[in-house]
Amino acid sequence: MDMGYSMAMHRKLAPGKLVIASHNAGKVREIRALLEPFGIEPVSASDLGLPEPEETGTTFAENALLKAHAAAQGSGLPALADDSGLCVAALGDAPGVYTADWAEKQPFEGGPGRDWYMAMGKVEGKLAELGPDADRSAWFICTLALVWPDGHEEVFEGRVNGTLAWPPRGRMGFGYDPVFVPLGRTQSFAELDPAEKHAISHRADAFRKLVAAVF
Ligand code: IMP
Repeated sequence: MDMGYSMAMHRKLAPGKLVIASHNAGKVREIRALLEPFGIEPVSASDLGLPEPEETGTTFAENALLKAHAAAQGSGLPALADDSGLCVAALGDAPGVYTADWAEKQPFEGGPGRDWYMAMGKVEGKLAELGPDADRSAWFICTLALVWPDGHEEVFEGRVNGTLAWPPRGRMGFGYDPVFVPLGRTQSFAELDPAEKHAISHRADAFRKLVAAVF
């Protein structure tokens, strides 16, 4: 798959409206700030009343593409979607595309709802089963899919490598940030200043590739 490394074949994104295929207000705000300098007017899928498709893919790219295709078809505008997650080497790249699902509380745990400390504990529990010498390498992936109403698609993948710490540390960020220590740092993503995290994160990496290719 073309992950955005060759510059020549990419379709350029013209100034104008772009649907952000996410119902997460935080994500939409972050993406709006990144794209406004390029004359892009982001509108969210929820503002347009577009339904959220089920994420049935088995890869980040499949899930990002199915969200972006649904939004482009539903709106008649170019659409951008992202899918992200944590991969742990010793767990065969799990939780991967199921990163959010691992945080889903069952009714006997007080669910429905998400508990990120429970999810981090699940990862740590599985590593503990492998013994004290288990490889603690991990990485976050962010895949961005940009799809036009005629079906043309562009996919960009961002990554940040690190190791898993235990116990969780820090109060900033979200999700699995308190156990993820990026390579070359001693602090977890939840201990780093948000600006520092955003400079090195998987999402920043994916956006740099998108900006280089389509503007
Ligand atoms: P989705 O991309 O909205 O499906 O979510 C994937 C899940 O991966 C999120 O709910 C987070 O738990 C996790 N995740 C993605 N990016 C980050 C990050 O930067 N820090 C911590 N967790 C993340």
